Amino acid sequence: MLLAQKRIQVDSIIASDPKQLIGPFNTVTLDNQIVQQQSAHYIMLHKPVGVVSATKDDIHQTALDLINTDAYANLHIAGRLDLNTSGLLLLTNDGKWSRALSNPDSEIKKTYLVELENPLCSDYISAFANGMYFSYEDITTKPVHLTIISERVAQVELTQGRYHQIKRMFGRFRNPVTSLHRVSIGDLVLCNNLAPGQYRELTIAELALFR
Ligand code: URA
Repeated sequence: MLLAQKRIQVDSIIASDPKQLIGPFNTVTLDNQIVQQQSAHYIMLHKPVGVVSATKDDIHQTALDLINTDAYANLHIAGRLDLNTSGLLLLTNDGKWSRALSNPDSEIKKTYLVELENPLCSDYISAFANGMYFSYEDITTKPVHLTIISERVAQVELTQGRYHQIKRMFGRFRNPVTSLHRVSIGDLVLCNNLAPGQYRELTIAELALFR
């Protein structure tokens, strides 16, 4: 009825097809009054250690507590980091985008800098590349690329994200992780200018890295 009367517009175009799909970021008006309008936001946050990757928490400060939610409503986290891990965390209000990013089959590479209590040796490289069996999940981890940066610092590239995966993998060598920092997700690198706790919107070029 409303369609036949040409009273509904989607993104300023009169809607006539009852099967037209409306997404969360289409602007919909009825009699020129807005009934739905929301912009998509994609944010990179430099997550500090001690901040929980959640929208609500009774004990710890959350990633969302760091964001001005007057400017950015309905954000959620796209891919968690542990409480004591710092680095690149993405937030968005676009559920389709975050689902694609967190889909285990997408195999998007995530790069971490890891500091360890004890010295590394070349055995780590092959053990990480060969995968490790996690009995709790009954899986063998996918090949992980490990580069030794210095005696106690490694760079690790994961294409999956099992619970505490990096700490558990170094745990096999009885080598505790003393610091864990996510540097990049896919080709998107955490901006150097963002101090821990700071954030900014992704640029169009950065967003295109995920398409
Ligand atoms: N592996 C971990 O152990 N912790 C993280 O936060 C990410 C990967």
